[in-house]
Amino acid sequence: MAMFFRSASLVVRQATALSLAGARRYSTGAPYQYILVEKKGEKQDVGFIQLNRPKALNALCDGLMKEVSQALDAFEEDSQVGAIVITGSEKAFAAGADIKEMQNRTFQECYSGNFLSHWNKVSTVKKPVIAAVNGFALGGGCELAMMCDIIYAGEKAQFGQPEILLGTIPGAGGTQRLTRAVGKSLAMEMVLTGDRVSAQEAKQSGLVSKVFPIDQLVPEAIKCGEKIAAHSKIIVAMGKEAVNAAFELTLTEGNRLEKRLFHSTFATDDRKEGMTAFVEKRKASFQDK
Ligand code: HXC
Repeated sequence: MAMFFRSASLVVRQATALSLAGARRYSTGAPYQYILVEKKGEKQDVGFIQLNRPKALNALCDGLMKEVSQALDAFEEDSQVGAIVITGSEKAFAAGADIKEMQNRTFQECYSGNFLSHWNKVSTVKKPVIAAVNGFALGGGCELAMMCDIIYAGEKAQFGQPEILLGTIPGAGGTQRLTRAVGKSLAMEMVLTGDRVSAQEAKQSGLVSKVFPIDQLVPEAIKCGEKIAAHSKIIVAMGKEAVNAAFELTLTEGNRLEKRLFHSTFATDDRKEGMTAFVEKRKASFQDK
């Protein structure tokens, strides 16, 4: 038993050290080579990740994606942060996986090393992630945006899955998430021809929820993040879990899960506070409990 407590306290100490290291990491931003990381919003409650490999149009090399994972881990641990925004530059959100890095890879290396398996991180974080897409979102760039929970686009954004032109196919969820987002015909057309769609077409087909002038895109995405971060974090996480379940479950199973999560909100102080505040005609003050 004493042994258990000793190792448990060691784990807590290590976790605290990691979390402090995380805080330092994004407060200075210094150790990151390929991304810029900071907190935004009036209350500094929006985690902000900017892909920063401008010469390569933010091609998603292994190092960049590992840094994105680290930054997401740090924001997940940060109780101040209620939502996360990922963006790129005005010219490119990301022009895809790094073709130069992939060029000489063999099947054996890809298969044995489970190539690109760590990309999934963006789709597994609990906090809501908003992609703010200006410019090119191609291949892995489009897939990265689709791993996020909400996509906002600048009016000159272009989305595409051009892997077919390189003799390959999307490998980070493109065929699956794009099809669920825009339907079979447009997904097939994009994946099989490599043709891109504009921000306006992406909006029309349901791939993105809003389109903004280029210079307003990031501020609007941060505003959306602030709006989400002002709500109860625990209830937001339940809402995100329930919506994501729609992609995995049958309608009956999904409705059952939703009902259970809905019932669970009644076990929280924040549900009580939200309804009491309405009845008392005041603004709710959520404690994330
Ligand atoms: C590596 C890339 C790159 C990429 C651009 N660059 N995209 N490097 N990987 N995906 C580099 C170019 O080599 C060049 O560097 C610099 O960025 C500028 O690119 P240009 O082509 O000169 O710019 P431009 O003429 O404006 O054309 C922009 C572009 C084009 C249309 C976006 O760069 C392009 O088609 N890129 C490839 C898009 C693509 O096929 N993406 C899918 C990748 S495969 P240098 O130093 O050479 O001048 C993929 C698979 C995902 O994503 C599978 C699972 C993740």
